[in-house]
Amino acid sequence: MSSSMSFAVNPADEDLIIEMYGVKKGFGKRQILKGVDITVRRGETMVILGGSGTGKSVSIRHVIGLLEPDEGRVLIDGEAMSHAEKQIKAKLRARMGVLFQSGALINWLTVFENVALPLREVHKADEQEIDRIVTEKLRWLGLLPARDLLPGDISGGMKKRVGLARALTTNPEILLYDEPTSGLDPVMSQVINELVRRLQKELKVTQVIVTHDMASAYYIADRITFLYQGRVLFVGTPDEIRRTDNEIVQQFIHGRSKGPMVLDAEDPTAKKKAAAKGGGEESSGADGSDQGAGA
Ligand SMILES: Nc1ncnc2c1ncn2[C@@H]1O[C@H](COP(=O)(O)OP(=O)(O)OP(=O)(O)O)[C@@H](O)[C@H]1O
Ligand SMILES: [Mg+2]
Repeated sequence: MSSSMSFAVNPADEDLIIEMYGVKKGFGKRQILKGVDITVRRGETMVILGGSGTGKSVSIRHVIGLLEPDEGRVLIDGEAMSHAEKQIKAKLRARMGVLFQSGALINWLTVFENVALPLREVHKADEQEIDRIVTEKLRWLGLLPARDLLPGDISGGMKKRVGLARALTTNPEILLYDEPTSGLDPVMSQVINELVRRLQKELKVTQVIVTHDMASAYYIADRITFLYQGRVLFVGTPDEIRRTDNEIVQQFIHGRSKGPMVLDAEDPTAKKKAAAKGGGEESSGADGSDQGAGA
């Protein structure tokens, strides 16, 4: 039951680079993913939408191989990531760039050093090369003035961009972004959106982007996967999602407080709290933190 699980499963007409099939994952008694199927075509930009605590970050962490499914499997370019040996995982992960929700910067390293990390650790580039690449990415993201600052001394939006610069340093084939525009002002959000589009159009990078930002989702997505209570409720293009008659999806994309959507149904503490207060209370904030996932 290990790396021998890479059998051919692709439908003949599709060139899939990320495949999740029947992924189930629980933590303690709580079942978070209840059989998630997500497939991403090579060069595609897939947006993952869904309410807080529905398992978006947990899904991404399976793709990166930071979490193992209890059931189901995850393939990267046809090769099993789930339950693979360490070296296989490292090899597959070296093809990816990841922007974690928290930014996951190392607090005692400067912006420059944070961005340089994957080049030093994974790709063993020489100093001159590192300087050239890191400077280029910092310039792209308007971060040159911050190059010698520590993460504690820059704004949240800047941290986000540093995380993105780091994800880009190795020119990955696959980029995974967890909430790349949250906490950014509208102008900087659009800078990120346009960057995503450029990576898609010019470099044909495969991208998976978790976001709550509908404007951004419509702008960047080839397709959108909507997760709800640990399952995929909808997959389709931005046009298809606008036109779907699924009421839960409609409630979400229009941000309506009233509708069939159950808020945080899977969080037992939320239920308890709501019961104690005698009413439905909104999201107790699944923190979704990406502890220790660093570089
Ligand atoms: N390592 C873990 N151990 C225990 N519970 C976890 C762990 N990781 C995630 N969870 C729980 O799984 C649920 C889904 O988490 P996840 O971070 O995927 O949510 P999300 O969809 O990304 O939400 P958000 O939009 O708030 O980031 C949450 O209730 C979270 O508390
Ligand atoms: Mg999250």
